[in-house]
Amino acid sequence: MGKKHHIVFCTWGVRTRFYSVVSLLIAGLIVITIYLTGISGWLNMDDFTTHDSASDGNIGISQCNLFAGKWVFDKVSYPLYSERTCTFMSDQLACEKFGRKDLSYQNWRWQPHHCDLPRFNTTALLERLRGKRLVFVGDSLNRGQWVSMVCIVESAISPAFKSMNNNGSLITFTAIEYNATIEFYWAPLLVESNSDDPVNHRLPDRIVRIKAIEKHARHWTDADILVFNSYLWWRRPKMKTLWGSFAGENGIYKDIEMLRSYEMALETWSDWLEIYINRNKTKLFFMSMSPTHFWGDEWGDANDQSCYNQTTPITKEGHQGRDSDPKMMNVAESTINDLRVKGLSIQMLNITQLSEYRKEGHPSIYRKQWEPLTDDQLSNPSSYSDCIHWCLPGVPDAWNELLYAYIFS
Ligand SMILES: *[C@@H]1O[C@H](CO)[C@@H](O)[C@H](O)[C@H]1NC(C)=O
Ligand SMILES: *[C@@H]1O[C@H](CO)[C@@H](O)[C@H](O)[C@H]1NC(C)=O
Ligand SMILES: *[C@@H]1O[C@H](CO)[C@@H](O)[C@H](O)[C@H]1NC(C)=O
Ligand SMILES: *[C@@H]1O[C@H](CO)[C@@H](O)[C@H](O)[C@H]1NC(C)=O
Ligand SMILES: *[C@@H]1O[C@H](CO)[C@@H](O)[C@H](O)[C@H]1NC(C)=O
Ligand SMILES: *[C@@H]1O[C@H](CO)[C@@H](O)[C@H](O)[C@H]1NC(C)=O
Repeated sequence: MGKKHHIVFCTWGVRTRFYSVVSLLIAGLIVITIYLTGISGWLNMDDFTTHDSASDGNIGISQCNLFAGKWVFDKVSYPLYSERTCTFMSDQLACEKFGRKDLSYQNWRWQPHHCDLPRFNTTALLERLRGKRLVFVGDSLNRGQWVSMVCIVESAISPAFKSMNNNGSLITFTAIEYNATIEFYWAPLLVESNSDDPVNHRLPDRIVRIKAIEKHARHWTDADILVFNSYLWWRRPKMKTLWGSFAGENGIYKDIEMLRSYEMALETWSDWLEIYINRNKTKLFFMSMSPTHFWGDEWGDANDQSCYNQTTPITKEGHQGRDSDPKMMNVAESTINDLRVKGLSIQMLNITQLSEYRKEGHPSIYRKQWEPLTDDQLSNPSSYSDCIHWCLPGVPDAWNELLYAYIFS
């Protein structure tokens, strides 16, 4: 509690041409079944003005691919909340507060090609969460999504009826009247690692304890809704992998090819879920990888440009950046499919493609800097731009709209 209260920045293994400064940057840190008739009232292909009146009843989203679509500029209905008035906004994500002038990133609405997302109804969500725990588990991207969810929800709750408790790896927002909590648990690699400290996780040598997850999992196994992610912290060719414990003398360390290590970690995670999750109670979600935008040449700019100074999304359908690793996505997908076969209710929220388009959605230089910038950096903003996280209000709000749609499906 007494530690730094602000939401901390964290370390990434992302390899970019800004590698030299990354440590600093970092530091602070289907086919759509067109059975339209099957999707009740809220679906209307021709007239999206019905959007606002969308009901939150049972939604036939199983019949529509919510992840294929486009961004539509919508100044009327978006953003869903205001950056300034969100009590629990993070300085890492508050781009307007830190000087960003172009605020159009707040006004984009995700529009699936063949149906509408239900309008986010905060009261309905709180009713659904009454007496329940919704827990996000993962890294700072997941924490950003948690902040987004808290901001969406808290705008509807008066000050006396909400609270925030920061207890190490677990941060808990409580909607008191509803006895509902929306929590974030820091576990950037899901399994145990030497980066598990929620504040001091900037370590040069990353070690993952591949078979161990119980230290984390005991804090959230009984949750009602769990939202996981884990991607960017794996982005290095090899992972130092530990069998045995950090403390004991019998630990065995080995450098393992990252993809294999990722696969083993997800196995440990899924084995835990298979055995300990109450299938009658808990809904599980896994957020697919969140893309980065460090390379201007990917969208036709000079290759010394990054997300800095970008003001519009990429419009090329299917755009994919080179820092997104489809092999890792496949590993996650097959782990999840195996879990479903075993009878767990788990859904991958495929936010990768829709986020790929949003090169202008990152904080770039408009966020709290944890260390003073050098003159060299100041003269070259791209060199210290954060093109990993997302400004709020912004892209993670859309992730939460998707989560909302699935919670009510
Ligand atoms: C994610 O969604 C995009 C857009 O629909 C699609 O192209 C891609 O294949 C999907 N990936 C996975 C793993 O489902
Ligand atoms: C939101 O949900 C609440 C509770 O289910 C309901 O009473 C209310 O009518 C909904 N609001 C809208 C705009 O749909
Ligand atoms: C509040 O919710 C928790 C689960 O998050 C439950 O264990 C507890 O019994 C609830 N308390 C009341 C008074 O309903
Ligand atoms: C913080 O967590 C510890 C250990 O999990 C627990 O014993 C303690 O009661 C918690 N404190 C608060 C204020 O929630
Ligand atoms: C889950 O539900 C099934 C069928 O309703 C029941 O037989 C089973 O005992 C329940 N399991 C748990 C862990 O509650
Ligand atoms: C930022 O964009 C504006 C307008 O597109 C352009 O005039 C300016 O040179 C750009 N600045 C940098 C540092 O790229």
